[in-house]
Amino acid sequence: MSELLIQGGRFLTGETTVQGAKNSILPILAAAILTGDTVELEHCPRLRDVDSAVRILEALGCTADWRGDTLTVDTRGLDRCTVSDELMRLMRSSSVFLGPLLSRCGAAELSYPGGCELGPRPIDLHLSGLRQLGAEIRESGGMLHCQASRLHGCELLLAIPSVGATENLMLAACGAEGVTVISNAAREPEIEDLQNFLTTCGADIRGAGTSTITVQGGRTLHGGTYRCMPDRIVTATYLCAAAAAGGLIFLRGAQEQQLATVTAVLRQAGCDICADSAGIACRCEERLRGVQPVRTAPYPGFPTDAQAVVMAALARSRGTTVFEENIFENRYRHVDELCRMGADIRVSGRTAVVTGVERLSGASVRSTDLRGGAALCVAALGAAGETRISGLHHIDRGYEDMARDLTALGAQVTRI
Ligand code: UD1
Repeated sequence: MSELLIQGGRFLTGETTVQGAKNSILPILAAAILTGDTVELEHCPRLRDVDSAVRILEALGCTADWRGDTLTVDTRGLDRCTVSDELMRLMRSSSVFLGPLLSRCGAAELSYPGGCELGPRPIDLHLSGLRQLGAEIRESGGMLHCQASRLHGCELLLAIPSVGATENLMLAACGAEGVTVISNAAREPEIEDLQNFLTTCGADIRGAGTSTITVQGGRTLHGGTYRCMPDRIVTATYLCAAAAAGGLIFLRGAQEQQLATVTAVLRQAGCDICADSAGIACRCEERLRGVQPVRTAPYPGFPTDAQAVVMAALARSRGTTVFEENIFENRYRHVDELCRMGADIRVSGRTAVVTGVERLSGASVRSTDLRGGAALCVAALGAAGETRISGLHHIDRGYEDMARDLTALGAQVTRI
């Protein structure tokens, strides 16, 4: 079992290039199925979740090949439409294969994704949208049996702007006859990235990034080459690392406009952040200040995925900050671990109150989930002494190589 050893209390200086976005590449890998062709994905992050998506594609009869950071997927040989329970359990977002499989094969059999470490993760919106597009879906024994001899475009209204449901329905709508309009769609930048990929492959989709997405279905798609956007949550994590430890860092390739709510909080806390087309520079020299309440919300609100890392940075601030988690029920599991390091954080329902302390101390802590694990790394960089972090399989789901990147930023980190 690997662990990260982090010696805290060092001012960070250095630069690193931000990896491609996990939450873009996963739906794009599912979308590759629709092309029935070869797609080349440049700047593709090498992550556990990407490996899981590749294993699903291979189990369906596709092939995949890495050259450097380019992943080539050939979906011409796809000849199955069943994903085993074992593969489905590797990652909750495997449900995004449902739309493309139905669209390409007219059938799909997947196990129900169930809950995860963040709490219940229902997919009712995915299923009701697919039913409206013409799919017949039966649920039995934890399996979903889906059939659609033909999908037809229609008007879909999402009860909440779910990222996964928006993506799944966009992908299914590409294979439906006629026009589909998705209202109250999620507006996350990764959805725009998915639209850009599909457009490169010949699809006719408009509106991603707004609440209304229109898909003209039934077009024959083809392969192509695509470079996905930089990962905005990895960017947020490394900005928080500099904020927690103090530092002057440069994140090459990072884009600020998709991260404006996070940089606004960090600026309010006292960080000096400048962005241009090459990347984002961040300087933090003083102890951070507490900030106005941080409330997570669908994009363009404050991202739930950045809540833990920003909380870790503010654990050592002057003053108090209130967090309100509005997306997931169980997203404060990192709090107990931060408290082991000396943080003063009280949780009540969806609210967490962080009273900044002057000093955190290194301790043995365990990652409880992907971003919670990243938060422990952030806190460790600002803590006195050595922190030992276990449960790295969570962190590896979303960070290519945390130790490599933090070392490039001047931290003392070893993976043992
Ligand atoms: C995606 C991201 C995840 C991020 C989340 C919210 C990927 C691979 N994952 O997850 O990192 O934290 O967006 O920004 O892109 N819901 C329902 N019914 C549904 C679908 C969702 O009730 O059918 C609820 C969920 O329980 C949750 C909320 O809607 O409370 C938001 O979930 P959703 O936007 O779907 O998140 P994911 O796509 O799972």
